[in-house]
Amino acid sequence: MVGGSASQSLSRELAKSLKARLAKVEVKRFPDDECYVRIEDDMSDEDVFIVQTTWPDRNIIELFLLQDAVREFEVSSVTTVVPYFGYARQDKQFKPGEPVSARALARLIQMNTDEFMTVDVHAPTVIDWFDSIPARNISSYPEIGKFLRTKGIELVLSPDEGRAENAKRVAEVAKCESDYLVKERIDGETVTMAPKKFDVGGRKVAIVDDIISTGGTIIKAAEQLRSQGAAKVYAVCTHGVFAGNAIPRLEAVCDDIWTTDTIENPKACITVAPMIARTAMD
Ligand code: R5P
Repeated sequence: MVGGSASQSLSRELAKSLKARLAKVEVKRFPDDECYVRIEDDMSDEDVFIVQTTWPDRNIIELFLLQDAVREFEVSSVTTVVPYFGYARQDKQFKPGEPVSARALARLIQMNTDEFMTVDVHAPTVIDWFDSIPARNISSYPEIGKFLRTKGIELVLSPDEGRAENAKRVAEVAKCESDYLVKERIDGETVTMAPKKFDVGGRKVAIVDDIISTGGTIIKAAEQLRSQGAAKVYAVCTHGVFAGNAIPRLEAVCDDIWTTDTIENPKACITVAPMIARTAMD
């Protein structure tokens, strides 16, 4: 198992789950910021997993170098695990002249691996661009559901209808109800948000999204749920990007913030290692 610098703690967890050896890897930057990697353990004839999130950009280059370094050992096979697949939100051309960024990344990653795995990729079409190797998108929602059950969550909410299915899958495991938020424009300046079916009054509510980036989506939702009398409001996601000062802004309106470990961040408390290990052993 080779852990890239963006995915150190998940690589350790995954190595434990798979009872695999974690290779010693040197990663450094030259004064001009070019990346240098060196795998210090011999990997010849092994089935090797490389684990590296492709965010921020510098970790993409590191992944390509790790794939190349692993191949130099004439390994038996390479499986590339990208826990958080950056650029998946640009999964189509929104305006003429734009790239399909997710496809560009997929094509480059698959050039140097025999298999590919990712977790809760924002646009599932990304998987189809891995057209010459087996590729799988693993769901973290059962693990999130298990975690929320230990916290006594009573209602799981998706910020919009588009992701309601994810909230439902979480709620099934958390053994509680799920719903999605609906926006209503009151006038030119006021937009309200409320669950489609349920009243949040006095309840412990978790808003579940795939990515929290600026936090804007969850913050708006949490403010509304508080004004509707929710007893507790929690922010939960697979990928905690937390751009800029997202964490303190979220902390101001949420009782707690919980994420998986697809991105290393101070709020990561749910590991996706068992899900990846199970998929790898299938
Ligand atoms: C959007 O389609 C995603 O599912 C997330 O809702 C979005 O990325 C969250 O972004 P932010 O935290 O910046 O509101």
